[in-house]
Amino acid sequence: MEHGGQPQSRLGEEATDDREPRSFPGHFWDWLGEETKQRQRQLAIRAQEMYDEGRPLFTREMIADAQRQIDQLQAGTMPPGKTLSVIGMDGVRYDNPRREIDLRKEPDHVPVMTFTSINSLTDLSGRVYPCYGSDGVVPINIATASSDSSYVERVEKVTADQVAAALDAVIDSFSGRETWRSVKSIFDGADLSRLEIDKIVAFGLGVPAREALPGVADRPSCMQHALLLALAALLEEKTGRRVRRIAQEPEYFDSCKQVLRARDVEVAEPETGFLLVDEKTLVLTVACNVPVMQIVTELARPAGMIWARVEPDEKPRQWWRDEDGGWISPHITDPSSPRVRELVKGYTEYTLTPIATAELCGSAVYLRKES
Ligand SMILES: C[S@@+](CC[C@H](N)C(=O)[O-])C[C@H]1O[C@@H](n2cnc3c(N)ncnc32)[C@H](O)[C@@H]1O
Repeated sequence: MEHGGQPQSRLGEEATDDREPRSFPGHFWDWLGEETKQRQRQLAIRAQEMYDEGRPLFTREMIADAQRQIDQLQAGTMPPGKTLSVIGMDGVRYDNPRREIDLRKEPDHVPVMTFTSINSLTDLSGRVYPCYGSDGVVPINIATASSDSSYVERVEKVTADQVAAALDAVIDSFSGRETWRSVKSIFDGADLSRLEIDKIVAFGLGVPAREALPGVADRPSCMQHALLLALAALLEEKTGRRVRRIAQEPEYFDSCKQVLRARDVEVAEPETGFLLVDEKTLVLTVACNVPVMQIVTELARPAGMIWARVEPDEKPRQWWRDEDGGWISPHITDPSSPRVRELVKGYTEYTLTPIATAELCGSAVYLRKES
């Protein structure tokens, strides 16, 4: 993909909106040493330079390489003491910021891939630390994550039948819902045959099992999965072409996977969903915790996307302190960027009705223009 020559701004001083303020307790920035801050600023400047030069931010190779090491950690075949490594934005291999992970010492954790947006990588404040511990600009890291055990215990008890009942209740009423009518009217009016959509790849649609817990009435995740299913069926009906339904969500429980598979949804284990996105893909994502827009923009030019509406310009936002003195980050987890804005210029943007927009967390529909 061509990424060079776009107007650049000092990304680190901005963010797209304030949907997801994140508070960092205490005075994180305040207790960092001057040397560390300086080093971090240099990496941020280097990230900006490489972005301006048009270097890829995320590549298939970076993802596949990190995944290979995560697979070894999970299988217990990573030699003890082996240093983990990641491919930097300059294509050079660097030590992973966490050089070593020993899962025997962290039995409640799983290895995960983290993705850092260009907005955070170029943050000059030094308050984001994607590259600490590394000598290079490394947009992908290998880390570990754990879930709150009381939450896991509660949701693990939810049976597949209960998940199916929660999801089916939403599916049954979905055709009468404004969100579906709004999405459907866009696809009904579009020339779909030229797009040759053969799969929908969805990212971060949430955890249906959580919404099957007793007393939970709000079911955004079930609704978003209902959308995936209804949209795939509509595309099949309109084009006569088989459309695969694929969903990547690291927090699915076995019950979620079982219920989704029974409804013809393929579960893409992280981060394989990203590697499946190509020019015949419709991407669906709602408020994901990873920078899906930026990752997809680097990897492919999909047939279409349903994702957060891309504002033509960035709104400048600054870090600020809450009343306890903690820093509030201006960065959201799935921000747009100059390259995302450049990508969507090649797409027709369709606005959803206000209710549908709100239910899908500010989403719009993008369909690729004729090239
Ligand atoms: C804020 S929640 C939104 C969930 C749902 N879309 C909703 O609107 O309620 C963000 C979701 O992103 C998911 N997520 C985190 N990392 C991901 C990854 N690498 N791939 C796909 N989804 C991911 C999280 O597990 C979580 O369910």
